[in-house]
Amino acid sequence: MKTILITGGAGFIGSHVIRRMITNSPDTRILNLDQLTYAGNLENLKDIEASPNYHFIRENILNAAFLEKLFNDYEIDGVIHLAAESHVDRSIADPMAFINTNIVGTVNLLNTCRGAWKDKNDKLFYHISTDEVYGSLGSEGLFTEETAYDPRSPYSASKASSDHLVRAYHHTYGLPVVLSNCSNNYGPNQFPEKLIPLAINNIIHMKPIPVYGKGDNIRDWLYVEDHAAAIELIFREGAEGRTYNIGGLNEWKNIDLIRLLCRIMDEKLERVPGTSEKLITFVKDRAGHDLRYAIDSTRIEAELNWKPSVTFEQGLAHTVEWYLHNREWMEHVTSGAYQSYYTTQYGER
Ligand code: NAD
Ligand code: TYD
Repeated sequence: MKTILITGGAGFIGSHVIRRMITNSPDTRILNLDQLTYAGNLENLKDIEASPNYHFIRENILNAAFLEKLFNDYEIDGVIHLAAESHVDRSIADPMAFINTNIVGTVNLLNTCRGAWKDKNDKLFYHISTDEVYGSLGSEGLFTEETAYDPRSPYSASKASSDHLVRAYHHTYGLPVVLSNCSNNYGPNQFPEKLIPLAINNIIHMKPIPVYGKGDNIRDWLYVEDHAAAIELIFREGAEGRTYNIGGLNEWKNIDLIRLLCRIMDEKLERVPGTSEKLITFVKDRAGHDLRYAIDSTRIEAELNWKPSVTFEQGLAHTVEWYLHNREWMEHVTSGAYQSYYTTQYGER
């Protein structure tokens, strides 16, 4: 039986990857290693936690001794590394956790794989990263795999650093690796500090929707299950040492996206049209706010035959439905640590 270690599997994207792999590969053992920070939530995996090929391990990727023991206990064939601090605003408020988890944590995993996989074949370390490493675009152009790195927030700088280290371990030590850099994801289970679920939550509670600056910034949105499908494909068929960009060809200006969401929410909540739009509140811009991200996914489309399967209309409708039907999930994740963090950093929202 093959064994795959997935880090950060209790988070947003990781939970979709785990569900997909458990379902598609019942003969593969999946180890989910997650520290369960504020962003990790085992409720995300309730439906598959009883699967015989699934094992959860609560641990920090900063614990190098534990990782070594884990690789001694199991013959691990592959790693899909998603564990990270993932929110730009938090990285601006407190960069250190990003340096530790995203850089040091990744190096711990690389060192462990290097030691355990010496003289072994058929192993793979798959590093999941972001398009934010490429910096910010003007009104024209797309990020390709050849675009020079130019990270501009502590989050993107920490991810860029980890990408470089993964490539360095491949080049210097011959560690078998593959990488992907993806655009903004949305969908069920996303922690409501990110734009779309934060706006949905605030609209439900008739609270202001904070739009940074003038809302002119542009992001390329991809439905999370399409990202999970790309991750499974790259893990199985990606070429060793190669990087794949993943995007939705779906650019939206923040303010237009929020207005669309407001219209959908009014309809679903049977509110008078225009009710939610009144909640839009322009607030102080994010420091160093990147203007535009957009991905050229030609490589993964041409070489691995991947393309997004869900339109934005379908994905957004499904996402809104999911949050409306999972209000308990929302209440659980927005209480406790998350709430007090936000109140301390930003005051009431
Ligand atoms: P998330 O914040 O929802 O989940 C991160 C998970 O990692 C959580 O379950 C958390 O408990 C776990 N974790 C954090 N620190 C840990 C540590 N020290 N040890 C063990 N576990 C730890 O993040 P996400 O949005 O699911 O992103 C997953 C990955 O994908 C990240 O590497 C992120 O950089 C990348 N990514 C995200 C997006 C996006 O739009 N969300 C886009 C491109 C790439
Ligand atoms: P976010 O979901 O934090 O993702 P990222 O910063 O990684 O792209 O933010 C998406 C965009 O929405 C970004 O341009 C910042 C903006 N934004 C707001 O305008 N208001 C908000 O409350 C948040 C969280 C984000």
